[in-house]
This record gives sequence, C-alpha cells and structure tokens, in this order.
Amino acid sequence: MDWGMKNRFSRIIRPQDGRCLMLAVDHGYFLGPTERLEDARKTIAPLLPHADSLMLTRGILRNCVPAERDVPIVLRVSGGTSIIGEDLSKETITTSIEEAIKLNVSCLALSIFVGSKYEHQTLASLAKLVDEGEKYGIPVLAVTAVGKEMARDARYLGLACRIAAELGAHVVKTYYCENFEKVVEGCPVPLIIAGGKKLPELDALKLAYDSIQHGASGVDMGRNIWQSDHPVAMVKAVKAIVHNDADVKEAYNIFLKEREKTKTEPQKAPKALSQTASFD
Ligand code: 5RP
Repeated sequence: MDWGMKNRFSRIIRPQDGRCLMLAVDHGYFLGPTERLEDARKTIAPLLPHADSLMLTRGILRNCVPAERDVPIVLRVSGGTSIIGEDLSKETITTSIEEAIKLNVSCLALSIFVGSKYEHQTLASLAKLVDEGEKYGIPVLAVTAVGKEMARDARYLGLACRIAAELGAHVVKTYYCENFEKVVEGCPVPLIIAGGKKLPELDALKLAYDSIQHGASGVDMGRNIWQSDHPVAMVKAVKAIVHNDADVKEAYNIFLKEREKTKTEPQKAPKALSQTASFD
C-alpha cells in the first residue's frame, strides 16, 4: 500500500486494535427518508463523537455534516435504484472519483449484488472503482447486498465476500451468519458486519459481539443504533464491544447506565420496519 492509501485505510480500520466502528447513515439512497433518519442532521449530530467513521452519500454529507468536523468519511458512490423501482440490483456508480477527492473522503463504498440479475454490472463497477481508488490512494469498501431470494448463509456470503476481495476491495461489509468464521477464512481483507433490521438492544449487542468473536474487524451499523430510543447509549455500548473487548453483559450494562445518564426523551416507536426489509 502506498502512503496515502495506508493513511486513509488507518482512518477506517484503526491501527491501534485493527477494529472499526462505522456508523451507517446511507439508507436514504434507495429508501428515502427512513424511520428515524428523516432529519439526518439531527440523527447524526449526537452520534458523531462516538463513531470512528461515517458512511453516507454526498448529499447527506454536504447538507448534514459540518465540514469542520474531523470524522473520516466512507462515501457511498453506488446507487441509481429505489425501493419502488424495477430491480434494486441495477446499481451503478453515482459519484465520480474527482468528487470523492474534493470531499476529502477516506474510503469509497459500493454495493455488489452477487447472484442477482445485475451481478455483472455491479462487479464490473467494483473493479472500476478499485482501479480509480488505487490511482488516488483511496480504499474501497464493497458491500455485499443480499437480495430477498438469496440465502444469507456462509456459503453465499463466503462467495460474495471472496469475489469482492478478488476484485480488489480493501474492506468488505457483509452480514453475520452461522459458521461466520468460514466467511472470514475465505476473505483475505478485513470484514465488517452490517447490523440489519432493528433488534432489541440486547440482541443487537450479541450480534456485534458474536461477529467480533468470530473474526469480524468491526461493524458498520445503522438502524440498530439510530432506531434505538437511546442511540447515544447504544453507540457507546457497541463501541465497548468493538474497541474495549466488552462482552454482551458488560456492553448491555453500559447501555443501561448511559440510558439513565442521558435521560433522552424516547421518540415515538418506529413504525413497522417492513419498508427497510427488502435489503435485509
Ligand atoms: C445498505 C447499507 C447500509 O449501510 C447497511 O445495511 C448498514 O446499515 P444497517 O446496520 O442498518 O443494516 O449498506 O445497503
């Protein structure tokens, strides 16, 4: 790795412990105003001090994150589809490398849809993005998007993650599954896990803990943090698992303690989350 690539990569996967707590707030790129992310500025602000990096689109970055904040940015550069459109897998590159450089991002993120109708298009986009990232020293995060018809098991995820790494992705985001260590074993670059649909806090902490125990380098978590009634308490609890080797009980105690401390007024309960289910 050249110096620039190494420097940016170290802003994503922290060299101190080889771990990463990425906060995902990119959901609107195909879901629109997702529950609790309607006012992204408001959602992001209290969580910023606790996340290692922020994953989002250029629109939300420009409008909802102060440029003065020194938070590493993972820029989602793929999209072009919507939840009500023809086929979610028909993604393309939506943001140029010049724009990413102007925005001073630390990493580029793009979804691949292995096994879907537009598999080839998304894999070719990944290869192109890696070429561009390599040229300018910007690492690429490949997101293994799982269509409704795919089994989210170690065989499928292992295939998708390995292909992403073979095409040159520097980090891969996937889902935790049974026999996750098999997925890790077959992927030569760091794997981080998405949180998926909102779970009770204890279950989400268990998911983060199990992922780390079985070889994940961290999390790229969204809804399980900001759809919690106590998002700051939740991000602190996840952070304890990722960076301080807390177990589930310790992390949950942090959540409970922080929840008391912040005395955050619970927002209204999330509506049925089915609107976000299609990419789970
Ligand atoms: C969607 C994404 C999301 O960022 C990702 O799924 C993480 O968010 P969550 O923890 O809410 O699943 O990449 O394609």
